[in-house]
Amino acid sequence: MKEQVYLYPIWVRLWHLFNALLFLALILTGLSLQYSNKIFTLIPFNYSVSIHNISGLILAAAYLFYLFGNRFTSNGRYYRFETNKLFVRLAKQFRYYSYGIFKNESPPFPVSAERKFNPLQKLCYIIVMYVLMPILIATGLGLFFPDILPNKIMGITGIQFVDLFHISTGFTLSLFMVVHIYLCTIGKTPLSNFKSMINGWH
Ligand code: HEM
Repeated sequence: MKEQVYLYPIWVRLWHLFNALLFLALILTGLSLQYSNKIFTLIPFNYSVSIHNISGLILAAAYLFYLFGNRFTSNGRYYRFETNKLFVRLAKQFRYYSYGIFKNESPPFPVSAERKFNPLQKLCYIIVMYVLMPILIATGLGLFFPDILPNKIMGITGIQFVDLFHISTGFTLSLFMVVHIYLCTIGKTPLSNFKSMINGWH
């Protein structure tokens, strides 16, 4: 039997649970706000605004907690960006996802206590958590406190400009979530990664 490794400490699991639930609430209310009109609303407009704002503020606080956790616990080491042979490693993992996995090959970067994420997964998590999430949260805060935004940026109002970034980043992260959940089913069994996120053990 293969040895089990404890990879998801309780704080990561709690953060992740809140993050996922808040994200679902934000996507649902965000879509409702985006596509509401006088004839059709998915969720009543005022409710959508309140739920979206409150969830966004809690998500921002949870994100600070995550940053703090990664800075001051050993979980942060799994996010260290390594440039050495990056493209070769990415290509190996990509080949595995698109070909090797269907031929029953073993994964080129098996999970261990030293390596929680494969190179593609690590790059995605770094971009999502350290580039896209800050953009989403900063633009969301800008829209929550519109007085801090400049009146005009590049010919459109500051609110429109920031909203454009907020919506595109939100859309990209929603796509990430779909692909993320799909890739999480590619474990030892389709549910094993989800179980790891519940009990901490891989
Ligand atoms: C219902 C929605 C979601 C489900 C079911 C889900 C599922 C999972 C599972 C099973 C894992 C463990 C496997 C792995 O490490 O890849 C994981 C890890 C992770 N997920 Fe999600 N996820 C969801 C939403 C999200 C969202 C919205 C984000 C970010 C915006 C996110 C970011 C992450 C990160 C950064 C990790 C690695 C955490 C760490 O160990 O340091 N997830 N997710």
